[in-house]
Amino acid sequence: MENNLSDRFFDKLTAVINNKELIKLVISNPKIKSSGINSIIITIAQLKRGYRLSFVYRYSTKDITKNYEFVEGVALIKKALVEDFSNGDLFCIKENISLVTTPSGKIKINTHEPTLQPVSAFRHDKVKDRLINTAGNIYLRELEITNANWEVRREMSDKFRQINRYIELIEPEIKELTKDFTIPQEYHIADMGSGKGYLTFALYDYLANTLGVIPMMTGVELREDLVKSCNIIAKKSGFNQLFFKTGTIQEVELQKIDILIALHACDTATDDAIYRGIKSNASLIVCAPCCHKQIRKELNVTNELSNITKFGILKERQAEIITDTIRALLLEAHGYKTKVFEFISTEHTPKNVMIVGRKISSMSPIFGKIMEDVATIKKIFGIERHHLEQALRGKE
Ligand SMILES: C[S@@+](CC[C@H](N)C(=O)[O-])C[C@H]1O[C@@H](n2cnc3c(N)ncnc32)[C@H](O)[C@@H]1O
Repeated sequence: MENNLSDRFFDKLTAVINNKELIKLVISNPKIKSSGINSIIITIAQLKRGYRLSFVYRYSTKDITKNYEFVEGVALIKKALVEDFSNGDLFCIKENISLVTTPSGKIKINTHEPTLQPVSAFRHDKVKDRLINTAGNIYLRELEITNANWEVRREMSDKFRQINRYIELIEPEIKELTKDFTIPQEYHIADMGSGKGYLTFALYDYLANTLGVIPMMTGVELREDLVKSCNIIAKKSGFNQLFFKTGTIQEVELQKIDILIALHACDTATDDAIYRGIKSNASLIVCAPCCHKQIRKELNVTNELSNITKFGILKERQAEIITDTIRALLLEAHGYKTKVFEFISTEHTPKNVMIVGRKISSMSPIFGKIMEDVATIKKIFGIERHHLEQALRGKE
């Protein structure tokens, strides 16, 4: 490392941490992929024991949080940036500073105008950003989104914002379903790949306590440890009709599905979830796709468009667009009025598209035409199979 440049970065980092001017530090671009850690997000957390540096280690399918005293935390940051990762993006109140280590070991430092607000400003966000109440809401505290005083913890402010955005987006869809009823309706809801349950609990809370519908909700999750902890939190929160089940999206037994949710279910797990929603005649299907590996591997463009898959990152984006376009078209073909929009815009997640389908007919009157359009897209991009299309074909 070039000492003077990196020392300048670490001196600045230590100063902004000590002055509590750090909004966040994002360490990314691992030099060696085998550790499985894609990035580390570091913020300052106020714990009972005092201020700590909170490290969120982001893996592909999970996040692990660890808190460290400042001195120990800064040493770990230095080690990560010297040995394991190429990029460090420091977001402070007064400026943003980025450190990049090139493959030849050269260090580049760039300083920019600040782009993020400190969390105290977020606390005064408009009511629209706070559809979920924090005071007395046990699941938020159990999930460590709020602290003992029911305040949103600094390092969880992005997650809280995501939860509120999710509720904001889903609210009109549920209202549309319930608009013709004068008495509360019961809805069987499956949340496929519920993970730690952040969005599952929030939706249950909002439906039961704000919209006044009766949610009969099941979170389906591969990982038994998460299922166990979510069931404990549901009980503590008094959410009597919310259960978590260990199982796979493909095979879990569910009595009925009125509303199918799949948020950030990996790769073809999103297709499996949509398939179950369509086959269960779900009234509403909501998904926020995650990675799009299946179609990326299939892409084989040999015509005049071949250059659009020449560059890795652009090929990745093409794969996302094609995968999700075909998913949306297949929903339309099966009688769902379908919308695709941005879920949440953040600097560090590409997982920000949401697809919502509302059942309006048993099958589209132009089913054949839509399937021809899907076939044309596949042909242009040299795609042999799309997981959802094949599932729907195979079992029809
Ligand atoms: C990225 S997390 C998303 C969690 C949550 N839906 C959210 O958006 O916050 C994806 C979760 O889906 C689970 N998962 C992936 N494939 C699955 C499958 N086939 N069946 C059940 N769960 C699955 C993973 O274990 C993981 O907890």
